[in-house]
Amino acid sequence: MSGPDLRRAAAARALDLVEPGMRLGLGTGSTAAAFVALLGERVRAGLDVVGVPTSAATHAAATRAGIRLATLEELPELDLTIDGADEVDADLRLIKGGGAALLREKIVACASRRMVVIADAAKRVATLGAFPLPIEVNAFGLGATRIGVAAAIDRAGCAGAVDLRRGPNGAPLVTDGGHHILDARLGRIPDPETLSARLWAVPGVVEHGLFLGIASAAILAGERDGRPEITVIGSLG
Ligand code: A5P
Repeated sequence: MSGPDLRRAAAARALDLVEPGMRLGLGTGSTAAAFVALLGERVRAGLDVVGVPTSAATHAAATRAGIRLATLEELPELDLTIDGADEVDADLRLIKGGGAALLREKIVACASRRMVVIADAAKRVATLGAFPLPIEVNAFGLGATRIGVAAAIDRAGCAGAVDLRRGPNGAPLVTDGGHHILDARLGRIPDPETLSARLWAVPGVVEHGLFLGIASAAILAGERDGRPEITVIGSLG
């Protein structure tokens, strides 16, 4: 089965969690996009829900799909957020932000009673860190913030290069919030909680892509005998 098939299978299982009247956080990335497309089909068939998108890209996709949208100013408390992840471990700790939407994704997930991750089963890892950790930083003071981030990484017992993410035109990538992204290539993160606390203490760090204690479940789609096989970490209830 192809990656899109697996992402769609995970998204379809998540759709079962949606009930009429729900206030939904809508994630960013290709798996979240599969969910938005399926949700749009249900909405066009009469389902009444309202969504809060986590990026300009998801706002555009949800609008095209016919999903009614709101902001967190209008709806500060949500029932359920469905979003993808770059890595997930057995304790539902995540790395997110490969699509540069980590700040809005974390704000929306934390405003939700439940966050459920949907992903290809290949995203499951024993130890976080093979995927570069995205760190969103203020454009002002970038050089100094980068030094502070490197020191925080060292004090948290990790090591690796910290690269400024660039967009397709070669210029530093700018997030929806007007910030830049540093990608920390750490290989493994033995103590994510300590690294999280160290990074938050660096002036100029707006947010990082470690999602700890936020997700309540993960729906992972793998393949068995040519068919999707869904594994759930945590509780969908
Ligand atoms: C967006 O910033 C990310 O957090 C995505 O949720 C993550 O990169 C997963 O994306 P895919 O579903 O495209 O793999």
